[in-house]
Amino acid sequence: MKRRFLIPLALGLLALALAQRYFGEEDLKRVQDAGKAYAETLAGQRPDQALCSLHRNRLPADLLPGFLEEQRKLIQYPKDGRLMGDWRRGGAIFNNLQKANCFSCHFGSPENIGGDVGPSLEQYGLNRGQSEAVQRYTYEVIYNSWAYFPCTVMYRFGAQGLLTPEEIADVVAYLLDPASDFNTKPAAGKR
Ligand code: HEC
Repeated sequence: MKRRFLIPLALGLLALALAQRYFGEEDLKRVQDAGKAYAETLAGQRPDQALCSLHRNRLPADLLPGFLEEQRKLIQYPKDGRLMGDWRRGGAIFNNLQKANCFSCHFGSPENIGGDVGPSLEQYGLNRGQSEAVQRYTYEVIYNSWAYFPCTVMYRFGAQGLLTPEEIADVVAYLLDPASDFNTKPAAGKR
């Protein structure tokens, strides 16, 4: 009778020992002490982030219209009203790991092999054109991705203060301008 419990018990102890060895002494202590800070961060989330967390990033349909409208209201535009700036400056932002880091999630940059967390943006400007509607959509997705894709993992570059409106317009030009390297050169790592 008792033997039936011995094996699970031994396995349990082994798992515990392995789990503790996975973290060094210091790391383990840090994880254990994170409890309060973690709880505070969770409780102090902005209301929109809290809503996403609560619904595990899938908002119920009845909450969507209000959420989208609130996110749309956060979007600000460059003072001169131009949504396409300088594609060279935009490229330096797009391809900088410490700036916008777009390539880590998106394929299509001629400079860096892109990731596949987000959809491929390969030859984005050649495929979509440069109409006012396309410029506006692209600008707004970069400024606040949640205005189109609620709770998406893509950073909300303008809404979170990571890029200025002018910098975002430069990135829009990098994606859209037919003369931009993004549209004239092949994507790095193209198979
Ligand atoms: C952390 C990953 C991540 C980063 C960084 C990121 N994106 Fe995204 N992006 C996504 C995902 C994921 C989507 C798709 C939205 C969804 O369905 O959730 C997306 C969607 C887009 C779209 C819409 C694509 C379409 O087909 O309409 C554009 C444009 C875009 N991103 C541009 C950018 C630019 C420019 C940057 C850098 C300034 C950037 N993204 C940074 C993950 C990312």
